[in-house]
Amino acid sequence: KTIPATLIPGDGIGPEIVESVIEILDAVDAPFVWDRQLAGMAGVDAVNDPLPKQTIESIRRTGLALKGPLTTPVGGGFKSINVTLRQEFGLFANLRPTKTIVPGGRFEDIDLVLFRENLEGYYAAMEHYIPVGEDPKGIALSSGFTSRAECRRIVKYAFDYAEKNNRKTVTIVHKANILKLLTGLFLEEGRKVAEEYKGRIAFNERIVDACAMQLVINPWQFDVIVTTNLFGDILSDLTAGLVGGLGMAPGANIGEKAAVFEAVHGSAPDIAGKGIANPLALLLAAVMMLRHVGHNKQADRIDAAIKKVITEGGVRTKDLGGNVTSKELTAALKQGLA
Ligand code: NAI
Ligand code: MG
Repeated sequence: KTIPATLIPGDGIGPEIVESVIEILDAVDAPFVWDRQLAGMAGVDAVNDPLPKQTIESIRRTGLALKGPLTTPVGGGFKSINVTLRQEFGLFANLRPTKTIVPGGRFEDIDLVLFRENLEGYYAAMEHYIPVGEDPKGIALSSGFTSRAECRRIVKYAFDYAEKNNRKTVTIVHKANILKLLTGLFLEEGRKVAEEYKGRIAFNERIVDACAMQLVINPWQFDVIVTTNLFGDILSDLTAGLVGGLGMAPGANIGEKAAVFEAVHGSAPDIAGKGIANPLALLLAAVMMLRHVGHNKQADRIDAAIKKVITEGGVRTKDLGGNVTSKELTAALKQGLA
């Protein structure tokens, strides 16, 4: 084992699914040396901070983290943990792959990847009210921004990913017909990047509303999608829905100096402690993490076990229509490793 990495067990079902994922990673002899750190309610309970300094320092040291779901503390004036992490480490790319694992849904054989710009757009949260007459909240005003440099960086990252992962087409999703500057700059810069990959990676552009419709009518036309923060937030939930929802959706937040891998779902307090949580989304995030550090063989072994046990073998947790516990699924996956 040679690669230091931060491990955040998280809240609710977090520790259960993290335990399951670590068991499977150990079974393939994954290279990570874990530095366990607190965040979320676990952080609030221990040091009254949902993102303790020590946790940030750990990620700064390792540049790599696997994060269980965190319960967002209500009230108390705590800032969003995810937003803080993104800003602190400049995690500019949010990567969400969507792949059919459980057959028999509305769509079969989905295999696409969505990149969401993670730092700019309307999510920079520059909002305020303008009073109208007696009403202090007569008008709500929100402004967003995109920088040429960031547009270029995220689109280029998507094209590089496509090239490295044998993908054929990148689709830039925008609304440059209405948000002529905010997303127009994204499109303008995106077209320039596309030009640099001409002959190697094909390039499409779609307007976001039409894209949403096409994703539902014919998702197979898409391969790699890259889009702005707000559109990416919405479309990535849509694509997760194409393959059966949150239980199978992994995500990565990637920057120049750090990358944080996680499941898209939350801490599921309704089923915490019952031993029935589905560890698959976090496991898929761990597989992405293995590929991120170039350990593709171990990633392939886990992917193959998932295909054999879950896709073909029909061993599934309750959320996927099955009846095995988290522990039983973990044992089956370990046994399914070639
Ligand atoms: P949630 O994703 O935790 O749960 C929604 C529904 O999906 C629940 O019925 C839950 O039981 C089910 N579910 C989620 N993951 C599952 C899994 N692995 N296996 C089986 N069933 C699963 O969303 P909710 O309830 O809105 O949020 C709970 C807490 O999680 C909140 O504090 C929220 O802020 C936080 N959250 C954290 C995220 C993160 O850390 N990345 C992302 C989303 C929510
Ligand atoms: Mg979202």
